[in-house]
Amino acid sequence: MTLVRVSAPGRVNLIGDHTDYTGGLVLPMVLERRTTMEGGPTDDGMIRVSSADETGTAAFPVDIEDLESIEPRWARYVAGMVRELRHLGVPSTGFEATITTDLPIGAGLSSSAALEIVTGRFVRVLVGANSIHDVTMALAAQRAEHRASGVPCGIMDQLCIAVGRRGTATFIDCHDLATRHVALPDSVEVHVEFVAHRTLAGSEYADRVADCSRIESLIGPLRLATIDDADSIDDDRLRRRARHVVSENRRVRDSVAAIEAHDMVEFGRLMTASHRSLASDYETSTPAMNDAVDRLLAEPGVLGARMTGGGFGGCVVAIRRRA
Ligand code: GLA
Repeated sequence: MTLVRVSAPGRVNLIGDHTDYTGGLVLPMVLERRTTMEGGPTDDGMIRVSSADETGTAAFPVDIEDLESIEPRWARYVAGMVRELRHLGVPSTGFEATITTDLPIGAGLSSSAALEIVTGRFVRVLVGANSIHDVTMALAAQRAEHRASGVPCGIMDQLCIAVGRRGTATFIDCHDLATRHVALPDSVEVHVEFVAHRTLAGSEYADRVADCSRIESLIGPLRLATIDDADSIDDDRLRRRARHVVSENRRVRDSVAAIEAHDMVEFGRLMTASHRSLASDYETSTPAMNDAVDRLLAEPGVLGARMTGGGFGGCVVAIRRRA
């Protein structure tokens, strides 16, 4: 059996949360921790995947359409990606593969996006579909995520994982999907801390996405809106949601400028302001995440801290001076 071995990292978002699904700005970064897929082709028209960390093998046909019957559930992300690639015209072939990961699952570090992208890379090598561009791959992975989990996520996680470079943040404009690699100065390090398990499926994530479409029907595209536009909204909840998105886009833009000017004190300040906005206006933080942020901010050398990703649990991220 020809052996294919590929991997894809997790991600942490440095700043720019709940902006991607309205075409806003984000600044995530790939992690060292990653998911690896290893295996080779089979000729019976079936795909079999197993995980080194969990029991049970999932088996489904290469022309899989309906993901809901697939068990174990994590394999729905694999099947979803296989389905999206086939719909893009990538030749389908059976395969057998094992997945290993050192990413914590359900911790808000995009283990599912890593699984989608690693599947895409695996299939790309297996069938020699080298013309599949990273952005196409990321969009296919986003559709796979929607279908496999039902969470109407944006493009940040999949695109960061598809194009990210080690030790470098990825500035993404989620409207035109332009990306720019932003190096962090050696004087600081990124610290990621786990707070609590969570799943975005069944969380208020979808409610936030729905709030944003209501806001856009009132004031037009959030990515173009000003704070005055946000403040013109009568409904208190929608006004606060809009304030977060508009101010967060601004903070991401200012963060890129601060990092490129090596002003990490300013970047830290922006990160902490982002947390406060997510906690009060967007209401995606939790008391445990707020406590973790406050504790980190009291530590020597910490320049900024915030919840990261979808929220309602997961991780916090801090930036601190290297000792
Ligand atoms: C999750 C989603 C992303 C993004 C973040 C919040 O990670 O998958 O698309 O919306 O939440 O910034």
